[in-house]
Amino acid sequence: MKPTHIEHIGIAVNDLNEAIPFYEKTFGLECYAIEEVAEQKVKTAFFKIGDVKIELLESTDPEGPIGKFLEKKGQGVHHIAFAVDGLQDALTQLDASGVQVIDKSPRKGAEGLNIGFLHPKATFGVLTELCEDPNK
Ligand code: CO
Repeated sequence: MKPTHIEHIGIAVNDLNEAIPFYEKTFGLECYAIEEVAEQKVKTAFFKIGDVKIELLESTDPEGPIGKFLEKKGQGVHHIAFAVDGLQDALTQLDASGVQVIDKSPRKGAEGLNIGFLHPKATFGVLTELCEDPNK
């Protein structure tokens, strides 16, 4: 398994209504999509910097993963996402080799991507997402 590129960087924010205009005004970037992922209890806003996306994450439920992250650590980098080909195989292979995975099978993420997370304990404190575009 070898990632092809960094797909996006996820940043947890308290308030998209504050963070989106900041990114637009300060960096001249355009928010091209806002999407709620109900299953993850999160609302996401996307920007592109070259081929890499910035995914801003606002919690929609204090008990959800982003809500808990914000409570514990405050705003900041939440995860980094590597694009891979063959996500299921990658997760199976990592799990079998003793890398702690959060998802043994892919689930649906924002933008129609299939995603799976590796445990931050296994990845030097950085929550790492693997993702695959099923329409590629
Ligand atoms: Co992500």
